[in-house]
Amino acid sequence: MRVVVIGAGNTAAVLGRLIKDAGHEIIQVFSRELFNAEDLAEQLKCRAVNDWEKISHDGQLYLVALSDRVVADLDKYWSTKQGMVVHTAGGLSKHVLKGVAKNYGVLYPLQSLRKEKAVYEAIPLLIDGNTEDDLAFIADFAGFISTTVRQADDAYRMHLHVAAVFVNNFTNHLYTLAEQYCVNTGVSFNLLKPLIVETAERILEFEPSMVQTGPAIRGDVSTMEKHLELLQEYPPLFDFYRLFSKSLQASLKPAFQL
Ligand SMILES: NC(=O)c1ccc[n+]([C@@H]2O[C@H](COP(=O)([O-])OP(=O)(O)OC[C@H]3O[C@@H](n4cnc5c(N)ncnc54)[C@H](OP(=O)(O)O)[C@@H]3O)[C@@H](O)[C@H]2O)c1
Repeated sequence: MRVVVIGAGNTAAVLGRLIKDAGHEIIQVFSRELFNAEDLAEQLKCRAVNDWEKISHDGQLYLVALSDRVVADLDKYWSTKQGMVVHTAGGLSKHVLKGVAKNYGVLYPLQSLRKEKAVYEAIPLLIDGNTEDDLAFIADFAGFISTTVRQADDAYRMHLHVAAVFVNNFTNHLYTLAEQYCVNTGVSFNLLKPLIVETAERILEFEPSMVQTGPAIRGDVSTMEKHLELLQEYPPLFDFYRLFSKSLQASLKPAFQL
């Protein structure tokens, strides 16, 4: 299939490489910065453009991997009379592409993507189409680049996107705050890495609630008080500690609660 990649960021690069590796022909990369378009085009062995007007009319599939706010307004910049147009956003309706093309849908990779990372293990793809035919077309295409392809309408995708923010973005923010705390208190964040990996790996086998540990779930009030004492000078961590402990204790007896 002839594919045009619109965007040259993380998602464009990772999906572009997977599409090429699957044997499709990428004919063009568009980016508003020619330098960025050329960089990705060189990897994908295709032409680079930085002008909306110069986007090829010859594509069979247009992969739109631009910032969400640009995708939401895409019809102000570009539209096409032929070909299938898909965006890659978890948090945008498929219908934002209504004014962009007749045939459109979504190809949302449920993974945190960085263009510097060369290889990704199977990336789940959540797909949707404007019509049954559009969906079938996108499903066929998605099957070439992932073994985990699932139809997900706007609501399903949005719910997963919310859950993804918790398991990915917020978790990483907690790592960041904990690392800063380690630096400030002179202890090694590196020593925590096996613990981070162990906890993440456990939920591959068990339900998260079955493997919850820590002072709050044990009702260890005296330890929690000592921790909070140490966190007085770290307002975000102090607040998160109280909030998470309260949430964890919600199922415990009142006597254990802070
Ligand atoms: N990264 C992920 O982990 C991930 C995962 C799943 C889905 N997605 C979705 O994939 C899409 C792209 O995300 P990303 O993470 O790949 O973003 P990214 O790396 O920041 O790349 C964004 C792209 O949008 C372009 N862009 C930004 N503002 C623009 C404007 N005003 N006009 C034209 N182009 C503009 C950028 O062009 P320049 O090169 O000129 O800056 C760049 O090519 C989003 O819809 C996102 O929700 C991302």
